[in-house]
Amino acid sequence: MAQIQAIKGFADLFPEDSALFLRMEQAAREVFPRYAFGELRTPLLEYTELFCRSIGTETDVVQKEMYTFADSRERSMTLRPEATAGVMRAYIEHGVHARESVSKFFTIGPMFRHERPQKGRMRQFHQINCECLGPKEPEADAELICMLMDFLGRLDLGEITLQINSLGCPNCRPAYRKLLRDWLESLDPSCLCEDCRRRMETNPLRVLDCKVPTCKEHTAKAPVMLDHQCPECASHFDAVLRHLKAQGVPFEINHRLVRGLDYYTRTTFEVVSNNIGSQGSIAGGGRYDGLISSLGGPEVPGIGFACGMERLALLMREESRISARPDFYLAALDETCRDAAFNLAQNLRGSGLAGTLAFETRSVKSTMRQADKSRARFALLLGPDELAAGTVVVKDMESGEQRAVSQPEAAAALKA
Ligand code: HAM
Repeated sequence: MAQIQAIKGFADLFPEDSALFLRMEQAAREVFPRYAFGELRTPLLEYTELFCRSIGTETDVVQKEMYTFADSRERSMTLRPEATAGVMRAYIEHGVHARESVSKFFTIGPMFRHERPQKGRMRQFHQINCECLGPKEPEADAELICMLMDFLGRLDLGEITLQINSLGCPNCRPAYRKLLRDWLESLDPSCLCEDCRRRMETNPLRVLDCKVPTCKEHTAKAPVMLDHQCPECASHFDAVLRHLKAQGVPFEINHRLVRGLDYYTRTTFEVVSNNIGSQGSIAGGGRYDGLISSLGGPEVPGIGFACGMERLALLMREESRISARPDFYLAALDETCRDAAFNLAQNLRGSGLAGTLAFETRSVKSTMRQADKSRARFALLLGPDELAAGTVVVKDMESGEQRAVSQPEAAAALKA
């Protein structure tokens, strides 16, 4: 019969891979609460309109990458391509703003984008996502970025770079957009790719972000947002950078950093690595002061980021991949000892030890081979003699030492 395979771009995570994800989640759960972030779990499925209205109908995500389908009542549903929109929906729907002036949430889980799969780019991928809602002050931006760098710093990722830019606000961005569009229109159209010629009309800032070398080259001298900010945006951005400097967080200003989602205002940032090929952005985020009101909520500003867990996993050191060693491998040496072995394994687990009970009864030699393969610290053998004496043979797999221990004392012996 033909085999059924996983959908392209949807991966299975075996325990070695899960071990990396677990380390990331543990680091997140350790760092984020220090900044008063709490975990929010939102649904994977939302009404499509939520993403169209928040991410923007002109973005690649909404135009080509969403998993969208109609339910049995013909309502259009979408598997979340990112977490921010759902967090905003929950925040508005539950009236959180009326109870708290500042709300901080983190979300960990799968996202779905129908992109061309390649190294570091999946159709189902996982994000660790943080949102801070309420403050407009630059300290919130700096604090969030410090938190992100603190979190990433715990994962042994090798060299990474924080890139930062400001996209201005509704006061100054429209004039800059016009200036940039006029500048782009003054170029020979043939020097830009087809996507850029279209973006020039719909979203000229995105032209700056194009990865096509000729587009990059021809737009190298384009006017930059930071030279055209209003005084409020400029002083906000200066304060963010001042705090980062004071905290010793290195950054690079990247005038071409415009991000692929439409909701951003003012501070935007990405963390990039040169060690995973073309998909080098391991985290991205920014401020979105108009997003909540555009979704029908109150005028509440916000800022957030998301890290791609598959990309972090590619950078994490190999040793993190090795899952913890079990404490024991326990085997009955003949049929009569199976019940006692089963009970002993359960007692050991009840005492907080981790390990495997051999289900098959094998020879001592073959049992020891299995014990070795399991990477357990101790092999425990229970034969008829041990059964009669109420003991178990405990073999230290590192030193090779072995001795009989009474069964009730086995847990204490292993812990010692
Ligand atoms: P984003 O830049 O679209 O931002 O995604 C954030 C991160 O998710 C990327 O830097 C990357 O590491 C990872 N990522 C994105 N697409 C894929 C993919 N197809 N395969 C693997 N990893 C991927 C957002 O999603 C915003 N919601 C971030 C944010 C939160 N902004 C404010 N709050």
